Amino acid sequence: MSEYRYPEGAVLYRNLQRSFPLIRFGRGSYLYDIKGKKYLDGSGGAAVVNIGHGVREVAAALSRQARDAAYLSGVQFTHEPVEKLAARVSSFLPFPDGKVFFLTSGSEAIEASIKLARQYWVESGRPEKYRVISLRPSYHGNTLAALSLSARKHYQEAFRPLLLKSARIPAPYCYRCLWDLAPSDCGVKCAHELEKTIERIGRGKVSAFIGEVIGGSSTGASVPPDAYWRTIRRICDRNEVLLIADEVMTGIGRTGKWLACHHFGLVPDIIVLGKGLTSGYFPLSAVAAKKGLLDPIQKKGKNFLHAQTFAHHPVGCATGLATLDYLDDHDLISRCTQAGKRLKRKLEGLLDHPHVGDVRGKGLLIGVEFVRDKKKRTPFPREKKYVEAFIAKALDSGLVLWPNIGHADGTNGDLVMVAPPFVIQEDEISLIREKVEYTLADMERMFG
Ligand SMILES: Cc1ncc(COP(=O)(O)O)c(C=O)c1O
Repeated sequence: MSEYRYPEGAVLYRNLQRSFPLIRFGRGSYLYDIKGKKYLDGSGGAAVVNIGHGVREVAAALSRQARDAAYLSGVQFTHEPVEKLAARVSSFLPFPDGKVFFLTSGSEAIEASIKLARQYWVESGRPEKYRVISLRPSYHGNTLAALSLSARKHYQEAFRPLLLKSARIPAPYCYRCLWDLAPSDCGVKCAHELEKTIERIGRGKVSAFIGEVIGGSSTGASVPPDAYWRTIRRICDRNEVLLIADEVMTGIGRTGKWLACHHFGLVPDIIVLGKGLTSGYFPLSAVAAKKGLLDPIQKKGKNFLHAQTFAHHPVGCATGLATLDYLDDHDLISRCTQAGKRLKRKLEGLLDHPHVGDVRGKGLLIGVEFVRDKKKRTPFPREKKYVEAFIAKALDSGLVLWPNIGHADGTNGDLVMVAPPFVIQEDEISLIREKVEYTLADMERMFG
């Protein structure tokens, strides 16, 4: 069988309504299914596969470590892969002496980051500080605390009674600015909402603010105005609130620098990484913290109260190290910048299409937002399932993209993320544009 769908087989698929092609292997920017059909991986999965598929050096490092010592408990031992990877990650953090804790998924690392912020305040004699403020829209993961921070109505609805109390401010989503201001002279009104929200909750109660430094799939790669993070940093400092940068999607070169923070000169207190850290060759995420956050804990003779069986996994860390070596050896981050500019320019060529509302992003993290009415920026009604149809048609044509819904007003809104591996070639960039254009034409017959 070349395609599977629920309830065939024993897999509990994430999506119970569609079928999934059976993929046999990947090379570079392509995936090949069992029938030999070729798919151009235009989104690197969920913006994960930075170095491309089938890299032997990384697979070799992974298997070498599995042979040497596949598993060591992070509470009993340390080992070379974790020591070296932590030092390597620390070398590109925007603060000195960073300390790095490795987990397996982005969601877990987000949870660990808010626990670390909270523990810092507890051990600093401020136990009343626990609230975390996040952005709307945003996405920080699917475990319950991470989901509480994420402003995604359709993911949260069924689980509301289980979620933590949340507080949100509008995301820097300039295409849908709540005040209808232009980014050039908006005075980053959305950033100033943070101060108002802190005042409303009471600054004594707020532990941290968390945000995606450049929007992930919720705002379709929205790039905030230059003054945004500078303003947020100042507000956090004034109010004794820790700043957590979620770089799960944007980190490890995806936006053309090791971290999206570097585009803005932003120095957060905690940075969360995932996805590209191993380019998907092994599940690995990380929480990188300023040393100063751990000092009060250590001085009291205490420990960071977060342990998981697979923390600091030797195979994960060896894979991460090999991935970072590969990025360096092949100069892939500057390649990402160059390829990103070309791909964005090509996709911007589609802006005269009646339903392409906006093309935005940085590096190889690009969002294309679809609208029913371009002038008014009106989204398609959700029941039309525009982006689901778009993704299915693109896949038929052999192009993989990442969809997102509901960001325009919490319910409606359709966009795709285009985030191919950094090894994408010139002809493959042209092919992405061609296939998107072809898919748009096909969609016109349904939605025009
Ligand atoms: C910005 C951001 N944070 C956190 C997560 C959660 O990561 P994971 O799916 O690995 O748990 C994601 C996943 O897409 C993400 O994009």
